[in-house]
Amino acid sequence: MAAAPAVGLPGDAAAIAKASKLDKDPADFEAVTVVCTRCHASSQFLSTPRSSARWEETYGQMSRLGATGSDEQLNRVVAYFQKNLTIINVNTSPAEELGPTLQLGDDAVDAILARRAKRPFADIADLATIPGVDRAILETLKSNGCLQF
Ligand code: HEC
Repeated sequence: MAAAPAVGLPGDAAAIAKASKLDKDPADFEAVTVVCTRCHASSQFLSTPRSSARWEETYGQMSRLGATGSDEQLNRVVAYFQKNLTIINVNTSPAEELGPTLQLGDDAVDAILARRAKRPFADIADLATIPGVDRAILETLKSNGCLQF
């Protein structure tokens, strides 16, 4: 049986905003605060980057436990975790994971796929040669443990 988790704490909204280094939309923090701190504190999820597949599993599990939200809130929750806390591998992740986490449009994602098919990316400097790629985003993702090669 699941242990009863602590309910959300007064500092959760601030913690969720502060952890959002790569998503500056306050409506996204707000949605995470409302949807994800009803049953437990934000410390349950702010310290653990996960793959996209693991986040999908987590959303499914939380929804079975009773988590709910409007479509807009849930889309915002997904955007928050995609930008801040999703682990991607630049050389193997599919386009639909690279775009949201690297915050890139289709052209830049296509350029990444074309380049890695010929030669894998070695590091941040190498990936930053693709037009449109934001090096500051890469550095922050790396420091969050979200960027693999
Ligand atoms: C209806 C109550 C409820 C809501 C709302 C809820 N959770 Fe949970 N969550 C739980 C319970 C209960 C557990 C402990 C279950 C367990 O560990 O098996 C838990 C545990 C967790 C864990 C640790 C377990 C794991 O999978 O590693 C994470 C991460 C998590 N929640 C993330 C979230 C996120 C993200 C949201 C918002 C989308 C959310 N939770 C909303 C009830 C909730």
